[in-house]
Amino acid sequence: MRNVNVFYGEIQALWDISLTVESGSIATLMGSNGAGKSTLLKTIMGLVLPRSGEILYDGKRIDGLPTDRVVDAGVAYAPEGRHLFPDFSVEENLRMGSFPSHARKFHDEEVERVYKTFPILRERSRQKARTLSGGEAQMVAIGRALMSRPKLLMLDEPSAGLAPLIVSRIFEGISSIRQAGITVIVVEQDVGRALSMSSMAYILENGRITRSGGGGDMLKNEYVRTAYLGV
Ligand SMILES: Nc1ncnc2c1ncn2[C@@H]1O[C@H](COP(=O)(O)OP(=O)(O)OP(=O)(O)O)[C@@H](O)[C@H]1O
Ligand SMILES: [Mg+2]
Repeated sequence: MRNVNVFYGEIQALWDISLTVESGSIATLMGSNGAGKSTLLKTIMGLVLPRSGEILYDGKRIDGLPTDRVVDAGVAYAPEGRHLFPDFSVEENLRMGSFPSHARKFHDEEVERVYKTFPILRERSRQKARTLSGGEAQMVAIGRALMSRPKLLMLDEPSAGLAPLIVSRIFEGISSIRQAGITVIVVEQDVGRALSMSSMAYILENGRITRSGGGGDMLKNEYVRTAYLGV
């Protein structure tokens, strides 16, 4: 992203955002409530249009493209709050993610890959989404995003509201997704865990990037430790 500015009506939500995420890496976006993290992901997805600036993916401009074209380019997104289809089964929810034409014919293969990443979902495949636990629902949300065969996966607060053991499962899944060569951008409140697996991290405050650095360096950073890790 280069000098991206985003407004909701007359109110500016993102100010002059510039950031880079290396292909094949995990990047963390952190910041307090209302900082603009979800807005930033939505802007990349084409769900919110920037007023100025450029977004380049794989060397090509994607700002201004409709969301389905952004998905076709290889970007996927699991939104905050999961947004599953409650009366559809796990497998039907996953199927909804393989709507892009380039992904449809790989449907069975991709479902299998999702089940390998999150084995519990295989057992739950016929269960309605509304009856899933929070952790299982999050796995379906991530799995559904993977069904479009993305090269860049963006996750908005995947661990929100989940018990520590389940959070570990989610993070193991994220780690195996990266090992499969998919670039990941994660918005996380569990900053410690996210930073320890990230090669790059950005802090968003009041719509501006105020700090950035390698995951390991950020973990040691005095400001990050006080403001975000409560140390
Ligand atoms: N559709 C919208 N219309 C108007 N203002 C919005 C809209 N969506 C978000 N905002 C405002 O933009 C700012 C950033 O919101 P955003 O949801 O991006 O923050 P966030 O960092 O994701 O917060 P949280 O951690 O609570 O999810 C907030 O002030 C919010 O009220
Ligand atoms: Mg948010």
